Amino acid sequence: MFLTKEEKHLLKGEKGLAVKKSMEILVALGNIYGANRLIEIGSVQVAGVSYHNLGDAGLEFLKELARDGKVKVLTTLNPAGMDLKDWKKLGIDEDFARKQNLVIEAFEKMGIIISCTCAPYLIGNLPTYGEHIAWSESSAVTFANSVIGARTNREGGPSALAAAFVGKTPCYGLHLDENRAPNTRVDVTAELVKISDWGALGYCIGKKVENGIPYIMGIETATLDELKSFCASVVTYGSKPMFHMMGITPESEKYKPPKATITIENTDLERAYKSINDDFSDVDLICVGCPHCSIKEISEIAKLLKNRKISPNTEFWVACSRLVKQMADKRSYTDIIEKAGGKFACDTCMAVAPLKGRFRSVVTTSAKGCYYSRHNNMMTKMGSLEECIEAAVKGQWS
Ligand code: F3S
Repeated sequence: MFLTKEEKHLLKGEKGLAVKKSMEILVALGNIYGANRLIEIGSVQVAGVSYHNLGDAGLEFLKELARDGKVKVLTTLNPAGMDLKDWKKLGIDEDFARKQNLVIEAFEKMGIIISCTCAPYLIGNLPTYGEHIAWSESSAVTFANSVIGARTNREGGPSALAAAFVGKTPCYGLHLDENRAPNTRVDVTAELVKISDWGALGYCIGKKVENGIPYIMGIETATLDELKSFCASVVTYGSKPMFHMMGITPESEKYKPPKATITIENTDLERAYKSINDDFSDVDLICVGCPHCSIKEISEIAKLLKNRKISPNTEFWVACSRLVKQMADKRSYTDIIEKAGGKFACDTCMAVAPLKGRFRSVVTTSAKGCYYSRHNNMMTKMGSLEECIEAAVKGQWS
């Protein structure tokens, strides 16, 4: 990979150890994937924030980088393993909280904004069409590439941090026009009625296109929240972090629909629900906000929960960024939800919080949430927001 004079100096360590290590990572990646140069980036989003996933080795790695590493571009963080303020309310133990706070301290020292959200585009890390970025959270990467038309590979935590310290990333993969073309046409005849249908659709398409880029036809309108949910699901279940949706996503006009075609019908969605939904009725946890809730979703939750009470046998969590929660505070949505017995899980989520062994079953609107909850040994059910609220009030899925 070609390096400028200045980049060679960085690689030699002339700007410190963190930058040197970062350059080593970027050059190694560039050489593996055949990049011919580094390109400048507009922003970074770093995953690998939860102490639950990092452990002590990850914490030590971050502390070492924080000694002299400072980010060069706007950099935000993925969810951490706990609500950074109200962790006790969510049943997090003190030792975990102490370690998680050390992780956050290290990121703060690097100059990273402690946003702790997987929907950075809702809180100001919003790239423009065609802008090169280096993001690592898969749902956000898919949203950025597909819905916004920005350009990013699905970075790992270390490669995203390396890009942040250098302000550049190797030019390969989804940064290049030739790798953004669709390879499978998907005709959707299924009806998409509720938010979880978008998760089910992502499940079906992700599994069928197998690491490809789908060109989706037959969908006339999609809201931001529906696209957010679809992005999380389609990449979790198997596609590349990119899709085109005719008439909806910005690059769909550039391409003709590919010849290879699959169809997604109502029966496919039914099969997706059958495979995601386990057989249980008592619900331990209901979690909404995967990806993190928008303010519109929180307003809908408040509307559905007004003057109602969550069952004492269950927990109801709303996962969102702290900034979106602050908007909810101002509109009194927080009051309504908390009066009903619901809890906000700011800065964290059902996949990265240490939940293994605490809950046997979870109900959510999110197909991705179900996928990761099964890794936490939970039984899962996916449904509409209304169905989730009913399950929370009754403590049962009916
Ligand atoms: Fe976000 Fe966690 Fe879901 S990172 S997409 S809420 S699994």
